[in-house]
Amino acid sequence: MDAETTGVPENLKQRLKASYDAMAHTYNEWTIPHSKQRMKYLEKALGYLNLPEQSETLSFLELGCGCGLPVAQKLLSYPGAKVVGNDLSDTQLALAKANLLEESDDEVSQRLELIQGDMNSLAFPDGRFDLVVAFYSLIHLPRSEQTALLGRIVRWLKPGGYFVANFAKEELESFVMEKWLDDKGWMYWSAWGEEKTLEELKKIGLEVVVSDVVEDVVDASFLWVIAKR
Ligand SMILES: C[S@@+](CC[C@H](N)C(=O)[O-])C[C@H]1O[C@@H](n2cnc3c(N)ncnc32)[C@H](O)[C@@H]1O
Repeated sequence: MDAETTGVPENLKQRLKASYDAMAHTYNEWTIPHSKQRMKYLEKALGYLNLPEQSETLSFLELGCGCGLPVAQKLLSYPGAKVVGNDLSDTQLALAKANLLEESDDEVSQRLELIQGDMNSLAFPDGRFDLVVAFYSLIHLPRSEQTALLGRIVRWLKPGGYFVANFAKEELESFVMEKWLDDKGWMYWSAWGEEKTLEELKKIGLEVVVSDVVEDVVDASFLWVIAKR
């Protein structure tokens, strides 16, 4: 297998961006048909939120939103809700724009903000979001960056807001594959593993309300977490 465990590679973010720019279509074609798990935990997290009668006050953030399907699309289905989608890849964001905004849909474009860049460089006011979502995306950050970002995510949540995400179940330190899904699919993952991830979430003051380990379509298991600020 052309995979190895290394330290954090140089130019990690540029390399990840180049990979997702090159293989966005391949990734999306492969993954969208397997959206059941994401939607299950997204719906669960939305179910925990005390949804206001007027959803105009709702504010959602998706980190590593990819092409916007199906998660950002679901978030936008709440009338008036504001959605911020962030991704490193220009190609993914161009697809998200095409998928989420019909040409003449001014109403949706007013409440959707797509931000290109490293999720670890994002800044938002404290208490801005009702729900922060990160599916299959935090795993592309080195572990120390995951810890730092989680600390910021807590602050970005409104009190009583929720965080829903998945992490690799096994501990992984800078795991690299040269050709994941595609010849151009150089790829990098990291994870603290189930126990330490849950400890970390509790340490930063989140109340973990769901933590399930589920075997995935790939040969790996993921820890799916819903946590409340
Ligand atoms: C495995 S895909 C997941 C996409 C989508 N969330 C899903 O569930 O299908 C990972 C996404 O995270 C993005 N990504 C990777 N590292 C990132 C970073 N540091 N900041 C923002 N986005 C990142 C990639 O460009 C890619 O679109």
